[in-house]
Amino acid sequence: MMRITYIIIALLLVSCNSSEKKEELSKVTISEEKITVQNSALKESMTRGETVYSNFCITCHLPNGKGVAKIFPPLAKSDYLMTKRRASIKAIKYGQSGEIIVNGQKYNNVMSPLGLEDDEIADVMNYITNSWGNSNDKLITESEVSKIEP
Ligand code: HEC
Repeated sequence: MMRITYIIIALLLVSCNSSEKKEELSKVTISEEKITVQNSALKESMTRGETVYSNFCITCHLPNGKGVAKIFPPLAKSDYLMTKRRASIKAIKYGQSGEIIVNGQKYNNVMSPLGLEDDEIADVMNYITNSWGNSNDKLITESEVSKIEP
């Protein structure tokens, strides 16, 4: 009788353990799937953003994103772009003029509004915040851009 009880307890323990493991495993799979979805959304957005950049931004901020010292601020490794997410979206959406400081350098110039749609602004932001050594793990969406007011 004792022996049978032990066997039953042992079986119960084994089965509990394995179902927990299964649950853990499925959690891992789900979060990997989420990352894959996010990565491919980012990749697609960046591809569209690169086209927007070539059509609307490249003339001033240049192909390498380095801009022109004291005239057109850099986007590559720009502390402004990478730490002032809202202000950067606002600048692209509504234009930017007056004094700003980018990487310790003063700029006092004018960037006119470029007439882009909210989804194009999200795409170009995803492109510039993930190019030339920049890296941003929080995807910028059309809905985020639509909420930014002048
Ligand atoms: C006609 C030139 C010109 C074009 C075209 C232009 N910019 Fe700018 N951009 C500027 C200038 C000048 C400033 C700084 C304005 C100031 O001094 O207040 C600026 C500032 C910025 C900033 C904030 C400062 C920084 O360097 O981080 C961002 C972000 C930016 N531009 C992104 C873009 C994007 C994206 C595009 C294309 C969709 C674009 N710009 C097109 C001239 C331009």
